[in-house]
Amino acid sequence: MATVRVDQKHRALVRSVPSSYKQALARFFATGPTDVALAKVQHQAYIDALRDAGVEVHCLDADDNHPDCMFVEDQAVVVDGHMLLPTPGAPSRVAEQPPIAEFLMSALEGIQTCNMGGDARMDGGDIIRLGNLFFVGRSSRTNDLGIASLRSLLDFFDYELRIIDIPPHALHLTSICSTPTDELILIPEGYLDAEAFGTLPDGCEVIWMPTEEAYGCNTIGLPNQTVLIAEGYPTVKATLEQRGLKTIELDMSEIRAADGSLTCCSIFY
Ligand code: GLY
Repeated sequence: MATVRVDQKHRALVRSVPSSYKQALARFFATGPTDVALAKVQHQAYIDALRDAGVEVHCLDADDNHPDCMFVEDQAVVVDGHMLLPTPGAPSRVAEQPPIAEFLMSALEGIQTCNMGGDARMDGGDIIRLGNLFFVGRSSRTNDLGIASLRSLLDFFDYELRIIDIPPHALHLTSICSTPTDELILIPEGYLDAEAFGTLPDGCEVIWMPTEEAYGCNTIGLPNQTVLIAEGYPTVKATLEQRGLKTIELDMSEIRAADGSLTCCSIFY
């Protein structure tokens, strides 16, 4: 998950693909999954790649009543031993959260947890972290009250939070953006203004990718200069490799079909 600094990414929670996956929400990158068996193969390859990179992975059972349940990133925001349980922006996804919260509370004994109340809404997929600087997307899933809840959590650590308005042709901030290292932000042309991220800390950089590689801008940076990337985005791959990073490509076609990206499928904790 994007809320854990790259150097802290040692444990990940994932959730299996449900047999109802063809009913998953899809509006941006595609019109919906067509092959559940292939999605399961791709998801297993994702888990294997994390494990091969040294990440300890725990996989929760799927819930067939919730076609989007594999997209765990949206359901919990873990920051330095604290956890915010957002109210997800899609009503059909709210009931995915309890087993995820239960697992994280038992895995992180003593973790401080806060819930969102009232009309606050947020998907964890709207948050990225660049070292100790956070960005949140104000999107169709994340509103100002949700952002205020996140700000309360980050104020506790004295971490800065900047808001990015997500255009209507994108789902989440992480749908179009990621931090493959704690110094780099990848973003496609055609979605955000050049100044959207503001002035970055010394040594940090925004790297613009071609619009047609928007999906490829979602990557998972791991310790040891390793980055998981989606297969089929040559500029993203070459750009990261030019910076000395080792890329591992994964076929994400059936996950993309439900607007899911690499980061959507895990919570690092
Ligand atoms: N299909 C992922 C989502 O819309 O939340």
